[in-house]
Amino acid sequence: MKIIGTGSAHPKCAVSNEMLEKFLETTDEWITERTGIKERRVISTEKLEDMATEAANKALEDAGLTAADIDYIICSNVVNEYVTPALSCIIQGKLGAKCPTLDINAACAGFIYAMDMAEDKLKCNKAKNILIVCAEEPSRMVSWKNRSTCVLFGDGAGAAVVTAGDELKAIRLTTESMADVLYYQRKLEPTPYIDKEENFEPLVMRGREVFKHAVSNSNKDIKILLDETGLTTDDIKYFVLHQANRRIIDAIRNFLGVEEERVPHNVERYGNISSAALPALLDELNRGGKLQKGDKLVFSAFGAGFTTGACIIEWAK
Ligand code: ACO
Repeated sequence: MKIIGTGSAHPKCAVSNEMLEKFLETTDEWITERTGIKERRVISTEKLEDMATEAANKALEDAGLTAADIDYIICSNVVNEYVTPALSCIIQGKLGAKCPTLDINAACAGFIYAMDMAEDKLKCNKAKNILIVCAEEPSRMVSWKNRSTCVLFGDGAGAAVVTAGDELKAIRLTTESMADVLYYQRKLEPTPYIDKEENFEPLVMRGREVFKHAVSNSNKDIKILLDETGLTTDDIKYFVLHQANRRIIDAIRNFLGVEEERVPHNVERYGNISSAALPALLDELNRGGKLQKGDKLVFSAFGAGFTTGACIIEWAK
């Protein structure tokens, strides 16, 4: 597999920490110190599928392809207005593509899970060009009365076009069932036969546990992949980590012992946009001219489940 195009899209409504101070018992100082986040982009008039389509179109253009060239669409998404049809079906129609599509939910690790699936499809010659779109609106899962969660998230979309190649050097996925640490339960329709107690809650997060799991698992994944490929941290141009929280990013960087410049971040501008964070940051690096053919990149993400995904790729463009 190799990545041949990237794209991203963010909502226009920028919500600063100062704006949150107006209706939450919080401060810019607390949020900045604990998370590094200064601002997040939150959906207002936009629809998630339109943002996803915009990111996908940009990735196609960057790849020099059109929707007709795509053989498969994988969409990573945790929540959106539709339970059915899949968000990938809606995106397919808006793009004017004709290929099969599928949604996956591996929470914030979704981009890596999607790349793993794409690699398998390419290896089996079941597709030539695959579009991965990660589109997320976590702002609709949190209670905006809960200062512990709503300050952390933003909405957005990131996309990548992948095709056959030898640039995916190693990939690792893990899942550990720990549903009580991070979850969102929504209301289903009542039926005449439901007589069990049901729980519906906006996003619940045991922040300190998430923090510890994120740091230790991400480090473990990266070390395993470096060992597997015989590479060292010095061989890696950038460590592209899930953008959940600046302190998590810094803790992972300290464990790895690498300089700040090699661990890019944009969480301060966008908040945590779940699985869209990695492809959106990759797109920023790509469009900012920061990547050169042959650069080795580490991706690492972690999310509810608990899921983790990491990989090493060589930049092919
Ligand atoms: N403003 C002011 N005070 C706050 C806020 C806020 N926005 N949020 C929580 N507090 C208060 C709490 O109520 C608590 O007050 P108390 O001591 O009177 O009870 C105090 O701050 C400390 O709360 P903790 O939750 O213990 O604070 P902590 O230092 O652990 O920081 C945080 C919380 C930032 C969530 C941290 O645990 C963290 O970074 N966890 C990682 C979670 C994460 O990044 N999740 C992202 C989503 S998951 C994913 O992407 C994988």
